[in-house]
Amino acid sequence: MKGIILAGGSGTRLYPTTMVTSKQLLPVYDKPMIYYPLSVLMLAEIKDILIITTEKDMPDFKKLLGDGARFGIHLSYKTQKEPNGLAEAFIIGKDFIGNDCATLILGDNIFFGPRFSGTLKYLTRKIENEGGACIFAYPVKHPERFGIVEFDEHNNILSLEEKPQKPKSNYAVTGLYIYDNKVIEYAKNLKPSARGELEITDINRIYLYNHTLRMEKLGRGFSWLDTGTPSSLLQAGQYIQTIEENQGIKMACLEEVAFRMGFMSKNKILKNIKGFKNNEYFDYVRKLVRQ
Ligand code: G1P
Repeated sequence: MKGIILAGGSGTRLYPTTMVTSKQLLPVYDKPMIYYPLSVLMLAEIKDILIITTEKDMPDFKKLLGDGARFGIHLSYKTQKEPNGLAEAFIIGKDFIGNDCATLILGDNIFFGPRFSGTLKYLTRKIENEGGACIFAYPVKHPERFGIVEFDEHNNILSLEEKPQKPKSNYAVTGLYIYDNKVIEYAKNLKPSARGELEITDINRIYLYNHTLRMEKLGRGFSWLDTGTPSSLLQAGQYIQTIEENQGIKMACLEEVAFRMGFMSKNKILKNIKGFKNNEYFDYVRKLVRQ
């Protein structure tokens, strides 16, 4: 299973904040936004990850994350020249994916919930063994702002619609998708939508039509946070701060995830962060791996 993080786009809704920096590098409380989706892929045990960004922002992502060795993973980079839609990720990432399956996560999506790592490992293996695709549904207050999935009482998917004016359900399709290798071919044959983008919803519709689309509902007790507007970005930061301060833990601490997933040894982590003194984040990592 390969992983792709889509961190392109111009972030115009967050202007002027994102006029000179990528949205996915902005802080969400105590770490850059991209740490959150990256931690999700690592929790799914995915170690080979492609980051797709704009030409302008790529050097900054490389400065921050490098080749991934600091987290026991391997990172590659590619650019998306124009915001041509999420599904273009599979055309840009074609050679990177090769003959594998691919999990795509949007660089501005934050997921947090109990037993999520186990759920992800189970579902990625299922797609690897049986083929098809998997989407994750989450109830939202403003369904017209998202891709929407309608389903019956047995959780059979009935329809998928991108930002419908009259949503048929209040379940959004979140920015996390697991696909078999057919996704590359499907993406290549897509036609741009009315808004001129290769829509991920159209890819999901092909899987639905072929009866190979699964849905995992993320319900109560699970958090899927939006960071698309100044106010939702601030709220996401405050949410992370509240949980971290209440529980004395850190969310999406990549060194911790690498350690817990067995990607890196205690000594390697300690050596890597040796230079970072008097810093709350790295003091947390030191304390954690020494325990
Ligand atoms: C995209 C997808 C949409 C999905 C959303 C999740 O929308 O097109 O189906 O629900 O991500 O974040 P965007 O907000 O990028 O337009």
